[in-house]
Amino acid sequence: MDGAPPDAEWQALLAGEPSRAGSLAPLFAPVLAPGGCVVGRLAQTLDGRIATRAGHSQWIGGAGDLRHTHRLRALCQAVVVGAGTVREDDPRLSTRLVPGPSPLRVVIDPRRRLPAHHRVFSDGAPSLLVATTPGPATHGTAEVLELPAPLDLAALLAALRARGCARIFVEGGGQTVSRFLLAGLLDRLHVTVAPMILGSGRPAFDLPEVATVHEGLRFAWTPHPIEPDMLFDVALR
Ligand SMILES: NC(=O)c1ccc[n+]([C@@H]2O[C@H](COP(=O)([O-])OP(=O)(O)OC[C@H]3O[C@@H](n4cnc5c(N)ncnc54)[C@H](OP(=O)(O)O)[C@@H]3O)[C@@H](O)[C@H]2O)c1
Repeated sequence: MDGAPPDAEWQALLAGEPSRAGSLAPLFAPVLAPGGCVVGRLAQTLDGRIATRAGHSQWIGGAGDLRHTHRLRALCQAVVVGAGTVREDDPRLSTRLVPGPSPLRVVIDPRRRLPAHHRVFSDGAPSLLVATTPGPATHGTAEVLELPAPLDLAALLAALRARGCARIFVEGGGQTVSRFLLAGLLDRLHVTVAPMILGSGRPAFDLPEVATVHEGLRFAWTPHPIEPDMLFDVALR
């Protein structure tokens, strides 16, 4: 376990595959850093799509990426998704493919447009609906966190930290991860690139237009093969 953090959760996560400790440590140690971490993640095609235009995305990444996503859920205390992801995928956002606890599910739906029948709002596990439109204090079985409009993502992170969520996993979709990136609130970005081209579809990143290449965001990254895909770990801080 050279280089791996001495963390009880980490040990539990490796229970299923201790032989991978060496390769997983560099990827997950920053997530387990003292003081917490905000990690964004997307699985995209070679042409930078995370879903078809109609919203179908299961699955762009392979089995390794799915497992990676569940491992991040298990390591983080909160998992954040945008309204579009709940609308299209109706995810449970629970930890099922690795040992470990399920995080608090946090859904950003400022205008309260999602119906309460979605699984995150009806299965009884802890969920938080983040809204800016005034309304009831609960939505299905979810608690509502009402924040001033327009939504300030730094205020949302502060509210989550006040609830004991130091490790926060921004799981998607593209608009949500892009807004956290634009606000400078991500510590790490995990982007899985799958060897496929859709040719059309929803973009991974949607940021203000730039006129020249040197205005684009350029990073250092560390590649991690997760068969059959490639995961890029980008350190933003
Ligand atoms: N490949 C992957 O890794 C991956 C991961 C997750 C999801 N997906 C797919 O991606 C698609 C969804 O992604 P998406 O980019 O279209 O949508 P999204 O990021 O899931 O949700 C975007 C919506 O969330 C609300 N929202 C999020 N952050 C906000 C903020 N800071 N301020 C105000 N509103 C905010 C807004 O809702 P309102 O406009 O209603 O106010 C916004 O339109 C689905 O098809 C899903 O299947 C793919």
